[in-house]
Amino acid sequence: MYNRDKVIPGIIIFVLFVAFPIWWGHGKSVPPPNPELPKGKCVESKEYMRSQHMQLLNVWRNKAIREGMRIYVSSDGSRHWIGLQNGCMKCHHDKSKFCDRCHTYAAVQPYCWNCHIPPEMKKFKTPQPSFLLRLFKIPPKLKAVQASSEEAEHGEP
Ligand code: HEC
Ligand code: HEC
Ligand code: HEC
Repeated sequence: MYNRDKVIPGIIIFVLFVAFPIWWGHGKSVPPPNPELPKGKCVESKEYMRSQHMQLLNVWRNKAIREGMRIYVSSDGSRHWIGLQNGCMKCHHDKSKFCDRCHTYAAVQPYCWNCHIPPEMKKFKTPQPSFLLRLFKIPPKLKAVQASSEEAEHGEP
């Protein structure tokens, strides 16, 4: 009839099995972001930056563009060049390992990079004169002069 030795362990195993997702997942939610930090100090304290950098960037933009002020004096009296590329990104070189790590986590997508260029994207090559130009040592300027004189011919009445 009622078999205690089997039913009770059976119930325990059943409960553990059903609760598996709960105890297995415990404490293993998405890991917090781990932005790569440079050595030294930020323009303000780390805590302030963490919670207020968006507002500070707004202040910076208004200071630079509307008031023409390019120097920021921080609360501890140190001075910093106001700029996104030439300010923040001079220390925080790698956008993908800094700004993006938090923003991806928090699902925010600041539109700043529609116009501002993050440092690692600046790596374009300086244009080189073509092989033939180099072979005959023709300065690239000559080509430009020819092009413009041709244009003048076509344009003349
Ligand atoms: C529509 C294009 C555009 C977008 C989008 C944009 N900016 Fe700018 N930003 C500019 C231009 C143009 C300047 C002027 C550059 C100068 O005069 O040196 C500027 C200047 C700035 C400056 C001050 C000077 C400097 O060299 O950095 C800051 C700070 C700044 N922007 C922050 C931001 C932030 C933060 C965002 C995103 C929330 C943003 N901008 C989005 C075009 C843009
Ligand atoms: C002079 C170099 C320098 C400049 C310029 C700079 N930072 Fe920082 N930033 C740092 C350093 C160093 C830390 C880490 C501070 C610490 O560990 O106490 C930091 C920390 C931060 C943090 C906190 C990160 C965290 O894990 O909590 C944010 C956010 C931040 N900076 C954003 C910015 C923004 C936005 C700008 C431009 C307005 C900027 N920083 C300009 C050097 C700089
Ligand atoms: C320590 C994590 C962290 C780092 C590092 C960080 N941010 Fe943020 N940032 C956030 C969070 C979280 C928000 C969203 C805050 C909110 O919505 O209230 C945010 C929002 C912003 C916003 C406002 C976007 C909006 O749509 O309102 C801008 C602009 C911004 N960050 C710029 C930067 C730049 C530039 C850097 C790199 C120099 C950077 N942040 C680095 C966490 C971070």
